[in-house]
Amino acid sequence: MSEAIKVGTVDEIDEGTAKVVPSEETGTGEDIAVFHAEDGNFYALNDECTHETASLAEGWIEGVEVECPMHSARFSLKTGEALCMPAFIAARTHKVEVKDGEVLLFPNVNAEV
Ligand code: FES
Repeated sequence: MSEAIKVGTVDEIDEGTAKVVPSEETGTGEDIAVFHAEDGNFYALNDECTHETASLAEGWIEGVEVECPMHSARFSLKTGEALCMPAFIAARTHKVEVKDGEVLLFPNVNAEV
């Protein structure tokens, strides 16, 4: 089990927005986007879209999905599944927990679905 990274407090990441944890901190070689979804929960995916090069954190969060800002592929924040073209490869998920008001990211630990 990897070490948890403190992403910030719950209040620091507004609902409908995301915060990027840079690869130097994640230790995975990838930036990870931590999303505060419209269901009130937090989810994490690799930040880079699986289609081309775009930051999913800069996309639009709707419900528990994020739409890529480049070509509008949508991904499930829960499972990482690519929900529409042009992306067809799932985004990697990472576990997120909220404890005592802190958002904790567990890089390379699959999100529990
Ligand atoms: S880069 Fe994300 S859909 Fe093309």
